[in-house]
Amino acid sequence: MAGNSFGNIFKLSTFGESHGKALGGIIDGCPAGVELDFDTINKELNRRRPGQSEIVTQRKEDDSVEFLSGIFEGKTTGTPIGFIIVNKDQKSKDYSHIQNSYRPSHADFVYDKKYGFRDYRGGGRSSARETVVRVVAGSIAKMLLKDVKINAFVSSVGEITYDYQNSKVNFNKIEDSIVRCPDEKTSDKMISLIKSIKKNGDTVGGVISCIISGVPVGLGEPVFNKLHAELGKAMLSINAVKGFEFGSGFKGSSMKGSEHNDSFNADGTTKTNRSGGIQGGISNGMDIYFNVAFKPVSTIMRDQDSIDNDGNEVKVKGKGRHDPCVVPRAVPIVEAMSALVLADYHLLNRLSKI
Ligand SMILES: Cc1cc2nc3c(=O)[nH]c(=O)nc-3n(C[C@H](O)[C@H](O)[C@H](O)COP(=O)(O)O)c2cc1C
Repeated sequence: MAGNSFGNIFKLSTFGESHGKALGGIIDGCPAGVELDFDTINKELNRRRPGQSEIVTQRKEDDSVEFLSGIFEGKTTGTPIGFIIVNKDQKSKDYSHIQNSYRPSHADFVYDKKYGFRDYRGGGRSSARETVVRVVAGSIAKMLLKDVKINAFVSSVGEITYDYQNSKVNFNKIEDSIVRCPDEKTSDKMISLIKSIKKNGDTVGGVISCIISGVPVGLGEPVFNKLHAELGKAMLSINAVKGFEFGSGFKGSSMKGSEHNDSFNADGTTKTNRSGGIQGGISNGMDIYFNVAFKPVSTIMRDQDSIDNDGNEVKVKGKGRHDPCVVPRAVPIVEAMSALVLADYHLLNRLSKI
């Protein structure tokens, strides 16, 4: 199975399954001398952790990371950074009902067909438990990117939307809200919606928006490794993601050039930022901003039509502890993937000119 590594110079490889012994990663290419703040790494893990509030899955993983290599006296040594997160709260019997049948719209069917068999416990490798590794690596990438500020937050749940582009987003309020929407009124509505969806045994989707400031001009490697293309790949690699748009996004397609262009100021900044901080695939020094759309996840507590692995029609109903809406827990994952891209492209940019 290929496809478990991400990045060019700052490169993360992840391993592990939801109900295996442990998940873990190796970061190769992290320069020596990055000072690590282990409290911050733990804080980031807690933002992704199951069981953190009443609107997320009640699984009880404490998600503590053990570093095995690549760090000495609190600093990276320039050698591969190996780490593991041991799984502690697996309830594999919650998944015995899908041992031979497939959850509609999950990854069970395609894993079985592609590999011939699958670790069905907790979804195996297709589980979003793998993203715990990305959060550890993303925290280290953030520490490398000292001047860059990455802030993701929830901008919609179902039909409830926070119009952040016409608001002054207060990043300090994001963590005050269990759904991670910085606007209090909208946050309350989102929380009520998730609670009622959960009560009905259903799930709901949402959008995470991300605003990144402090990125210098010049990151991005045209033509195939444009900065927005790499961010898009990073976001679309997150479980349950269905869409990515940056800058004016899909709305920009209905505008005229005269309405859409970002006029320059004398210092090279622009008066507006419909480009979303990237032009020609290269950062232009303005804020980078984008939206990531998450589907309503597939495990619902209702009977659904499915098939077993012999092709017989069966009913499948979710069991165990699942997320009714993943966006609150996916905020640190979006930030982590952003940090991995920017750390990698920051290092790549050092090769651009003599
Ligand atoms: C943070 C997070 C938590 C998730 N929790 C669940 C869950 O509890 N139940 C579920 O069915 N899917 C969950 N998912 C989504 C599945 O991992 C995903 O739908 C599955 O791997 C199939 O991949 P796809 O939806 O990208 O096609 C979660 C996703 C994320 C990002």
